[in-house]
Amino acid sequence: MNDTIQILGISGSLRRGSYNRAALRAAVELAPSGMTIDDSVDIGGLPLFNQDDEAAFPAAALDLKARIRAADAILIATPEYNYSVPGVLKNAIDWASRPYGDSAWNGKPVALMSASPGMAGGLRAQYHLRQSFVFLNMHPVMQPEVAIADAARRFDAEGRLTHEPTRQHIAALLASLARLTVTLRAGQLEPATA
Ligand SMILES: Cc1cc2nc3c(=O)[nH]c(=O)nc-3n(C[C@H](O)[C@H](O)[C@H](O)COP(=O)(O)O)c2cc1C
Repeated sequence: MNDTIQILGISGSLRRGSYNRAALRAAVELAPSGMTIDDSVDIGGLPLFNQDDEAAFPAAALDLKARIRAADAILIATPEYNYSVPGVLKNAIDWASRPYGDSAWNGKPVALMSASPGMAGGLRAQYHLRQSFVFLNMHPVMQPEVAIADAARRFDAEGRLTHEPTRQHIAALLASLARLTVTLRAGQLEPATA
């Protein structure tokens, strides 16, 4: 097994100037030693999910599943849309969960970030994602919760995260994700009994 922790980063926003994609770029820079983050996946190329199409699974969805399976863990950065998960992200989650019994998400550790110009920082989308993780049998990092509020002041005009406390917060999240991934690899999720 490769000792490097390979993370697949997924943005829940397709917007060119997306704060969430910018947060993923910051995470790439902040990854601790021994972790690499691939933020090149584009979920905007997926067709709208239609269960009829599972019989001839679309190439873009097969590719997404392969990339999820090749990763040790997942990092999602997403806005909240109307207090919930953007449709484009839910669409990607649904494709990669199908067909039933062949979900690419099964057992994956996952860390969440969200960013919004508003004051809740997109946190409500995170809670809706956590609900899906129950059925997907994923292992979410619990703490820290990274919800980047007031995003217009934390990123500069080039989309660089300039707010140092937020950078440290993301670094702490990545450290937690690394610990969880290593713990799960070792089969030591349950605390040892005395
Ligand atoms: C359809 C839609 C719904 C939105 N709903 C919310 C919301 O519920 N809460 C919030 O904080 N911002 C909301 N926003 C504003 C987004 O947070 C803002 O557009 C943000 O920049 C999107 O993330 P991005 O920069 O990564 O694209 C909404 C935006 C759109 C387009």
